[in-house]
Amino acid sequence: MADGTASLSLGGNAHDFPVRSGSVGPDVIDIRKLYAQTGAFTYDPGFTSTAACESAITYIDGDAGILLHRGYPIDQLAEKSTFMEVSYLLLNGELPTGEELAKFTYTISRHTMLHEQLATFLRGFRRDAHPMAVMCGIVGALSAFYHDSTDITDPKQRMIASHRLIAKMPTIAAMAYKYTIGQPFMYPQNNLTYTGNFLRMTFGVPAEPYEVNPVVEQAMRTIFILHADHEQNASTSTVRLAGSSGANPFACIAAGIACLWGPAHGGANEAALNMLREIGRPERIPEFIARAKDKDDPFRLMGFGHRVYKNYDPRAKVMQKIAEQVLKELGVNDPVFDVARELEHIALNDEYFIEKKLYPNVDFYSGVVLSAIGFPTSMFTALFALARTVGWVAQWNEMISDPEQKIGRPRQLYTGANQRDYVAVGER
Ligand code: CMC
Repeated sequence: MADGTASLSLGGNAHDFPVRSGSVGPDVIDIRKLYAQTGAFTYDPGFTSTAACESAITYIDGDAGILLHRGYPIDQLAEKSTFMEVSYLLLNGELPTGEELAKFTYTISRHTMLHEQLATFLRGFRRDAHPMAVMCGIVGALSAFYHDSTDITDPKQRMIASHRLIAKMPTIAAMAYKYTIGQPFMYPQNNLTYTGNFLRMTFGVPAEPYEVNPVVEQAMRTIFILHADHEQNASTSTVRLAGSSGANPFACIAAGIACLWGPAHGGANEAALNMLREIGRPERIPEFIARAKDKDDPFRLMGFGHRVYKNYDPRAKVMQKIAEQVLKELGVNDPVFDVARELEHIALNDEYFIEKKLYPNVDFYSGVVLSAIGFPTSMFTALFALARTVGWVAQWNEMISDPEQKIGRPRQLYTGANQRDYVAVGER
């Protein structure tokens, strides 16, 4: 690679490709003309070395453990900002002025209610439905209820759809929860903060007033900020791929929710807490560490490791602090927190984890906090989806506005049968 070009020698012929530099981070080799020039594809399952888009929203340096949203470090946003402010920042590129923030917060609060018919739709689910199944269904169904904001070529409509999604996710997540426990749905109360409103819709009942605990509210707000966006992860790439065909935003976000559900992605917080509970006491940790290292055992330490972070996930550091604060405030003496801390300590000093650069990720402590607040494990990924919605819509908007955007269409290395003639069933 030299002077902005990369040379590739293939079958004795040399081919040059432009190299592009971002504002920070690794250069990329622009291989869009590769097939036309060489007749070859690249092979990169899991996209470990492939940039699928240009983006100005979030930057991660996984080796240094850095996460920036529009340039601002995640720890500063987590400590000093609010979820509404971070949402504005992700969507619009700059921190809002006081007036812009007030207007944005008001706009979001005006979209918190759901079409009443959606409650009927939700009641069609089984009572034991997983909240993520409900979220996939309801969010996908929003396109049938808010069809006036599905013209994706109109930036104004795209913004209205984005605001609707950000505003309605807490209402949907809370309803999914209320439905499983047989309590009445709570309507939003717009004089509360985004987070306070969600807590009330989740834990309040119509029979009595609900007081938002400020420590819990602050913890939830920080958890939402920590999950708001994370560059081109699997669910965000799913949203982009779905959106690249011109699909409506509600359908695209439903696709993102479906992807997030998997245990290797957003489902890891649920899996991590289940694992900590299964371990139960610090004395059993070595047994689980040994299993995680055993090549013949599919068991992995959930909440450990990351495709991008080869250092401490900066979100995990904040999350550990929140866990301590929330457990103290609520007087919860949960032995899983002790197991988590001891497991982290042992793993971080173990040769296997050191060599593979496996560190706790955001999901390692989040389950401990959410459980202490009162959420069942099945709600954990739904909360992740709620918070990630702003990242998804920001990335979707950026993609649609990009003049270089094309329908996503990966190629393949075909290893199946060559062309052959059909044989009638009686002759096989
Ligand atoms: N426990 C034990 N070994 C592990 C773990 C783990 N949690 N994670 C990775 N490894 C090993 C893996 O076996 C492999 O070893 P080898 O090179 O000998 O085959 C090596 O480390 C590299 O792993 P990989 O699966 O090739 O790495 P990846 O980048 O494809 O996977 C990951 C990243 C997050 C899927 C993986 O680390 C994992 O499964 N972690 C547990 C699930 C989890 O916590 N996921 C949440 C991710 S953060 C939230 C989010 O973004 O959704």
